[in-house]
Amino acid sequence: MNSAEIRSRWLKFFENGNSQGLTHTVVPSASLVADDPNLLLVNAGMVPFKPYFLGEIKPPFVRATSVQKCVRTLDIDEVGKTTRHASFFQMCGNFSFGDYFKEGAIKLAWELLTKPVDKGGYGFPESKLWVTVFQNDDEAAEIWHKVVGVPKERIQRRGMADNFWSMGVPGPCGPCSEIYYDRGEQYGKEGGPIADEDRYLEVWNLVFMQYNRGEGGTKEKFPILGELPAKNIDTGMGLERMAAILQGVDNIYEIDTTKIILDKATSIVGIKYGADKSADIRLRVVADHTRTAAFLIADGVIPGNEGRGYVLRRMMRRVIRNMRILGADKPVIKDLIESTIKAMGPQYPELNTDKNRILEIAIRSEEHTSELQSHVRISYAVFCLK
Ligand code: GLY
Repeated sequence: MNSAEIRSRWLKFFENGNSQGLTHTVVPSASLVADDPNLLLVNAGMVPFKPYFLGEIKPPFVRATSVQKCVRTLDIDEVGKTTRHASFFQMCGNFSFGDYFKEGAIKLAWELLTKPVDKGGYGFPESKLWVTVFQNDDEAAEIWHKVVGVPKERIQRRGMADNFWSMGVPGPCGPCSEIYYDRGEQYGKEGGPIADEDRYLEVWNLVFMQYNRGEGGTKEKFPILGELPAKNIDTGMGLERMAAILQGVDNIYEIDTTKIILDKATSIVGIKYGADKSADIRLRVVADHTRTAAFLIADGVIPGNEGRGYVLRRMMRRVIRNMRILGADKPVIKDLIESTIKAMGPQYPELNTDKNRILEIAIRSEEHTSELQSHVRISYAVFCLK
């Protein structure tokens, strides 16, 4: 199933296609530039809805669904090395603002995941799915077992670090329940998600948003300021992870859309993907970061020395540096960004309409980086001659 199909099945199911008759308003992805003083960039599907969860603004709908562009750079050094870290990803989400809660969200997720492909679902065999709940969330555990029918041995309990979701900054938060897909024994040891998160891949996170988090603390312990005005649902299903599973590839860099960029990078440097482990990592970094850079520019970010501009500049420099190490001796950005627009344009038409501007900014940034690098090389040569 290609990425566009995964996306459209998601939206259709929540808009008007589930057996609970819970219609959701389809909300287009917001800009990556977060309208939130605590965040540089949108890093989760719920970010545009934060004022609704907090009760600061009355939502114009009680249920919504979206496929939100996200950028996370916290784990940037893991990109390319693991099967599942990306700096750019698309988060499919369904949201309830004081409407359905745990049982509704759990039943919706199970229905879409397990509904046969020819009936509009993703066709997962029930026997391959495991779930986790927050340590003392007996209610969620009971719904999974008694209402949905998941065997007790495939329901695991985890603590704050894994099953209590917050944005990492002040805002709405709550205990969560995650759904995992067992990829099989060739991927690791058995024992469920608590034993091995490479074999058991997290596909969907259901957050029972009911508290307001304060500043500070750690992932395991942070101040809870109080309850939200209503009990809400925020879920996140990573489109790229889902695509990797449904397309039978090992990692998110080899799915239909990202592979187009990766293939362009291999053709520029004339090497074969899969032949050398460290070259593969560099190629995956190039594919991931090029996509992030294209989307940041499309949303109005320009390379700079601080904030979002610095995130973009860093992405571009890492692309250029990795391509040079792989053997590129000519400018690469034009071809790579063009391949990104080709891969993502069908789902994001604004990339096509804004193509010239995106290319111009990206190419200028490459020239700047090249000048900077030759300046450093000349300065170093002069230093050595002294
Ligand atoms: N907001 C839920 C998630 O990003 O997993």
